Amino acid sequence: MNYKEETAKILAEVAGLPVEQILSAIEIPPQRELGDYAFPCFILSKSLRKAPPVIASELASDPRLSAPWLSKVVCAGGYVNFFVDKGEYAKEILSQILTLRNSYANSTEGTGKTVLVEFSSPNIAKPFHVGHAFTTIIGHSLAKIYQKLGYDVVRMNHLGDYGTQFGKLITAFRLWGDENALREDAINELLRIYVKFHEVEKSDPTLTESARENFRRLENGESAEMALWEEFRELSLKEFEKIYQRIGVSFDNYNGESYYSDKIPEVVDMLKEKGLLVESEGAQVVMLDAYKVPPCIILKSDGTTIYASRDIASALYRYETYHFYKNIYVVGTPQALHFKQVFSVLDSAGFSFAKDCIHVGFGLVKFADMKFSTREGNIITLDALLEESVAKTYEIIKTNAEQRNTDMSPEEIKEIAEKVGIGAVMYTFVKSGRERDIIFSWEEMLDFEGDTAPYLIYTYARARSILRKAKEQSISISTPGDESLATLISEEEFAVVRSIDELPDAVAKAAASNEPFMIARATAQIARAFNRFYNNSSILSGTDMANRSARLALCESVCEAIAVGTGLLGISVVERM
Ligand code: ARG
Repeated sequence: MNYKEETAKILAEVAGLPVEQILSAIEIPPQRELGDYAFPCFILSKSLRKAPPVIASELASDPRLSAPWLSKVVCAGGYVNFFVDKGEYAKEILSQILTLRNSYANSTEGTGKTVLVEFSSPNIAKPFHVGHAFTTIIGHSLAKIYQKLGYDVVRMNHLGDYGTQFGKLITAFRLWGDENALREDAINELLRIYVKFHEVEKSDPTLTESARENFRRLENGESAEMALWEEFRELSLKEFEKIYQRIGVSFDNYNGESYYSDKIPEVVDMLKEKGLLVESEGAQVVMLDAYKVPPCIILKSDGTTIYASRDIASALYRYETYHFYKNIYVVGTPQALHFKQVFSVLDSAGFSFAKDCIHVGFGLVKFADMKFSTREGNIITLDALLEESVAKTYEIIKTNAEQRNTDMSPEEIKEIAEKVGIGAVMYTFVKSGRERDIIFSWEEMLDFEGDTAPYLIYTYARARSILRKAKEQSISISTPGDESLATLISEEEFAVVRSIDELPDAVAKAAASNEPFMIARATAQIARAFNRFYNNSSILSGTDMANRSARLALCESVCEAIAVGTGLLGISVVERM
């Protein structure tokens, strides 16, 4: 049973309005003393031709609003405020989560609908820097969120594996490349020769010519150039996959930009046929004045294709292949205009799916005062970030373990540090609205008491440890439906139950706005509420047997809820730390 929904149902009947309308209007009062749910009556004043306070008082006194799980219904100004019966509420919510476990907060809203989530999309032969970490982590989380809501999710990696830079790489590799170095450490070797190419090119223009020629040969599918390009691609991908594996990310589809290059003539023909292609300074463009954006270049003056043309071809391919309900691109906000242009071209060509293509942007990653970019030289790779985070976490956990005199072996600490250290990095990317810039600070992200993954994981481990002790002492734990659960009526207990009840809503809202942070916030809320409860109550030494069992069930529920929340963010929990 969903309390908010049930309340809305009764209200809808009394007010004679659709449930959905009431449901979306119901608020959670800012101060708990006011009630658990509030209904603002001003939304009815026009249709009922009455002042909100009059409506509120009429509604509040309607006998139909006296459900057994509502302890009080009062009017306050233009609001009707509802108080739920805490005991019944606790029993209901905990029974739900302890029955559903990992399926808690699942829904069927996405049944039969396909959502494509394109994320990560790094560039071949370039380091996997922190900007790509941002898309990877947000996208990975969104894919999990949609899946939880019942959508068929396709994870797409639109690799940057095409473009004139491959002509440069081929030229550079033939001149200075080291096959062994390439096999051992592809990305660094390719980066090395790429940088060298640009240095030498300054004084040797024949390089520019050679690179252009090699790219042309590549576009024509000449076997020698194709073979080199394929080798670069494969070896780079292997390195990316190592990172993906480490953070638990996977893809269904690795069709990169190159995949679409031979589909562009079709796009050009289609745009021509629809009379959309015009010449501008030698290039073929689609004018987008009606969309208030600059023209989109489809073919450059030398006849070569560009990034945007490949994106148009790819969107058409995606629709033909998947008939998507939504086609999401998790790509940095600086590319907002590019996507606006691509979607506008599709729309002007009459493809109604254009409105279901969504650019999900995100901010910049900063470290102290630096902006990261491969072009600026000070590249911070995700790998380096994870390494450092895990190492620092290892030290913290080791020190804690020594202080508490636990029997954790170095291997166990290492395993825990891997999960917590990686979780700490991932959480940093999902804890705030994605369009906000991130400023990395070790102190902040590894603060075991802060708004961090270590804090969430620590809270989980703490609750698990209580449950282990209860088991050792053969103390019983309430199970779904037990009357004992209705003893959880203190303010602290209620706050925990409430926070667990808010998680499903947060998941749905996170999907609707493509904002994983809503889940991060809801999960942190559960952990905070639990720690407040934990610090103020004795759990194992309680003397009221029913309440003791119920409190343990509350611990168990918190574990389930935190595991669901962190899981949706791509973060793993540990049993102890
Ligand atoms: N490879 C590009 C980059 O690293 C991102 C690709 C974004 N996806 C797309 N469909 N254009 O900047």
